[in-house]
Formats: sequence, structure tokens, C-alpha cells
Amino acid sequence: MRDQSILLTGATGAVGGDLLRKLAVRKGLRINALVRRSDRDPHERVKAILGELDVTAKLNVLEGDIGVGSSLGLDDATLASVRRETTHIIHAAGSTSFTLPLAAARAANVAGSRNVLDFARGCASLECGAFLSTVYVSGKRRGVFAESEYGDEGHGFVNSYEQSKAEMEEIVRAAMGELPLILVRLSTVVGDSTTGRVSGFNTIHHAIRLLYNGLAPMIPGDPAEPVDIVSSDFVAAATLHLVENAPRPGVFHLAAGRESSSSLEELIGETVSSLSRFRPAWRKRAVERPLIVDLDTYELFVRSVEETGNEVLKGATRAIRTFAYQLAHPKVFATNQAATVLAESGIAPQRSSDFYPRVVKYCLESNWGTRPC
Ligand SMILES: NC(=O)c1ccc[n+]([C@@H]2O[C@H](COP(=O)([O-])OP(=O)(O)OC[C@H]3O[C@@H](n4cnc5c(N)ncnc54)[C@H](OP(=O)(O)O)[C@@H]3O)[C@@H](O)[C@H]2O)c1
Repeated sequence: MRDQSILLTGATGAVGGDLLRKLAVRKGLRINALVRRSDRDPHERVKAILGELDVTAKLNVLEGDIGVGSSLGLDDATLASVRRETTHIIHAAGSTSFTLPLAAARAANVAGSRNVLDFARGCASLECGAFLSTVYVSGKRRGVFAESEYGDEGHGFVNSYEQSKAEMEEIVRAAMGELPLILVRLSTVVGDSTTGRVSGFNTIHHAIRLLYNGLAPMIPGDPAEPVDIVSSDFVAAATLHLVENAPRPGVFHLAAGRESSSSLEELIGETVSSLSRFRPAWRKRAVERPLIVDLDTYELFVRSVEETGNEVLKGATRAIRTFAYQLAHPKVFATNQAATVLAESGIAPQRSSDFYPRVVKYCLESNWGTRPC
């Protein structure tokens, strides 16, 4: 992307921030980082993300909003110049909350993406528009989910986030005939494979905390089925490689697949052994391992917690059940198309058991992001 101009939305988010750090050190690249308008100074927000990094790209911070129409909240002059120069778009903005009402999730993820597509239609030099999505657009399907497949196939969704992202994909697919677009479906991003640093805490990290506090007595799922997680450094490097090299239109899974994933039972074991290793005092508390149960048993458990459980257990169960149900619909994400494009680059998902313990350590040391470390 040397000598080119990229519009990055969601630059202050977990994935967008990782992408921004990688792009910022590319000489000659022009970056227009769209930061949501708020009472916080957008330059300060971007500075906090870049830290001490030696920025060699031409970085331009733009205040805007993907929700306000195809102008993305930019004034006329800025809009015209950004449209004129943009060669690449990475759309990483949106809502990742699992608990929003469907209408709010649609406003962020479907209407917002429609505005970015309309913006893209005005970019005469556009070479690639990459829309970040999730492998969980597959909803409650089970089995292998290929990159060529779309949506829940009538099985339903676990939460409003999944549904809104599947609907977002529909409008992106409809525009693929007229624009050079790719959909990049990410698996669950847990942290950096070398340092364990977590850019954005999500349900997986929350589940680790509940296990640590002995508040996850049961988890639904099949002990032998894989739980797909990926590192943030793999996702950032692979996304940028796809943006530059993938055939368009195209759909790509950035996922561990069966080969690099631990099974649910193994992942729980890795969590328990990492907590014991990095916080020896925890072992003495002799917290029970969560039981892996079938969906009916888990639903019974959720109902009984709602009826008779204490407030702490109720809150804990509510917090993870929006994702926990996904574990009861196990799938394997095929990665053939992404692997083909990434083959020559040396970029590949790491085995989750090789880096996940570092993420657990980071959760402990940072007290789940509330303490600098
Ligand atoms: N992280 C994962 O594990 C994961 C997994 C699968 C897929 N993905 C996909 O990857 C993408 C990025 O996810 P993420 O984890 O980085 O999300 P995130 O941390 O929640 O960040 C979302 C970003 O979107 C921005 N945003 C939200 N509404 C906006 C608006 N109206 N106008 C402008 N900006 C707006 C947010 O700005 P503020 O900072 O102002 O809120 C933030 O920068 C999403 O498409 C998500 O579906 C992520």
C-alpha cells in the first residue's frame, strides 16, 4: 500500500487499533483514520493507541460517524478530497456488543456499513474495500462452515450481533458486482501471540475471569469439539495481506481451523493450568473445573440460577450466556481461500495452545485491563 491512501474506520477499536499500529509504520502510505465524534479529542485518542511508535506514514485523523450517511460525518471539502485519494478502505467500525436490541445492532452494523458502501461508490480510485465480519455469521449452524457459505441457513442466531453482521454481509455481497470488495471474517481475537497483550476484552476474557472467581460451574458444549480463537497479531498481519493481495470479490476466514484449535476440554484445562501456574495462590482455593454439559442441561442451569441463584451468580451467568450458547453449536471454520492467499507470506494462525496461556497471564497481571502492566 505504499504511496496509496487508506481510509480506516474503527481506528480506536481493538482490531482497528492493531491495524492502525501496523499501517502507521509504513513509509509513504497516507492513512485517513476515522474516529467517532465525541467529547474526547480524536488526536489524543489516536496518540494513546500509537504510544511511542515511530510513525512514518502520513497520518490524518478525521472526526466522523459512520451512522450519519455516506458523508460519514465529514464536511464537504474533506469528503471530496478523501474520496478522491482513497485507494483502500478497511471498515473495522461497528458494534461488537452481544446484548444490544436487534434494531440498535442493525443501526451500527448494517446501516453504518451501507453508508461506508455509499462512500466507496464515490471513490474513483478504489482498489479494495475490506469489510470486517465474523465467522459467527454462521449462527447456530453446526459442522464445517466454508468461506463460500453465507449466514445461518435457517438455524437462527445466538445473539443480535451475529444476525446484524450476517445482514451486513448481504448488502456487501450485493455490492460486489460493482465494487472491488472483500469480506474478512474473523474468529474470536484473544490477544498478542508473543506478549499476551489484549487489545479488546471480550467474552472469552470474561469467561476466564468467571472461572478464576469460581463463577462458571457449567459450560455448554461438546468436550471434544474445537473452540476457535486467534491471535491479534495474526489477524492484523493477515488482514493487511488480504487487502493488498486477495482476489476481489472474495470472502476469507481468519480462523484457527480444526488443526490449530484446542478442544473445549483442552481449552478449559489450559485455562486452569495457566491460572495455577501464574497465580499459585489460586490453586489453593481449589476452584472446581466447570462441567461441560449438553444444551438442555445448561438451559436448566440458567433457569434455576434465574429463579434461585444469588445476584453474583445471576450476573455472571447472564454475562456469558450470550456467547456460551455458541459453544453448544460447534463448528469448524474452513480457511482454504485465506490460506491460499496467505501461503507465500508466511502469515498463518498459530496453534492456540502455544499462545493462549500468555493471554491468561496478561488477564491476571492487568487484572483484566484495569491495571497497567
Ligand atoms: N474483536 C474480535 O474478537 C472480533 C471477532 C470477530 C469479528 N470482529 C469484527 O472486527 C471489527 C472490529 O471489531 P473490534 O473488536 O475492533 O470492535 P470494537 O473494539 O468494539 O471497536 C469498534 C470500533 O467502531 C467504532 N465505531 C462504532 N460506532 C461508530 C460510529 N457510529 N462511527 C464511527 N465509528 C464507530 C468504535 O469507536 P469508539 O471507540 O468511539 O467506540 C470503535 O473504534 C468488527 O467488524 C467486528 O465485527 C471482531
